[in-house]
Amino acid sequence: MDAVVVREVAEADRAWMRALLRERWTGPEVVSRGRVHAADRLPGFVAWSGTERVGLATCAIAERACELVTLDSLRERVGVGTALLDAAAVHARQMQCTRLWLITTNDNTAALRFYQRRGLRLCAVYPDALAQSRRLKPTIPPVGIDGIPLRDEIELELPL
Ligand SMILES: CC(C)(COP(=O)(O)OP(=O)(O)OC[C@H]1O[C@@H](n2cnc3c(N)ncnc32)[C@H](O)[C@@H]1OP(=O)(O)O)[C@@H](O)C(=O)NCCC(=O)NCCS
Repeated sequence: MDAVVVREVAEADRAWMRALLRERWTGPEVVSRGRVHAADRLPGFVAWSGTERVGLATCAIAERACELVTLDSLRERVGVGTALLDAAAVHARQMQCTRLWLITTNDNTAALRFYQRRGLRLCAVYPDALAQSRRLKPTIPPVGIDGIPLRDEIELELPL
């Protein structure tokens, strides 16, 4: 595979983002902390390998904090996820943010491992938050990865 290059999201990426978010997130709306993000319209970063898009990170900045709303690697275990996370952290620093944070769900043990190995720390757990998320986005399934009931939000952060 060609080296991974990360570029800021451009308007030409938007249709591809919508397709990816539909496939991986059941649609462009992504819910975290009781809020719906139109993730296909957020700023973010695309990972490229040659002429192929191999990953996406989307971000939302508010009150000097940068939320990593989505992170998806289409070529796992070759550095795509790490490159996108690094790009988001650099962007957050440039935007004068004091923290990078994200929500993942209780079933996503691989993500908890991935982020903690990259310096992020658990900073909050929101039990049963998915019940509220489902009211905003009914396509969120009842059961997640490895057959684990999808119930809780877990917040991780990286102080910048
Ligand atoms: C979590 C996720 C983003 C990780 O993406 P990824 O592209 O596989 O991440 P990386 O390749 O940077 O790192 C994964 C592992 O591969 C290893 N790796 C990276 N490049 C490698 C290479 N050239 N050779 C061997 N191993 C390599 C990394 O060291 C890492 O292992 P470690 O955590 O033990 O150090 C990806 O699994 C994913 O998209 N998951 C589904 C969506 C999701 O859960 N997103 C996060 C929640 S919002």
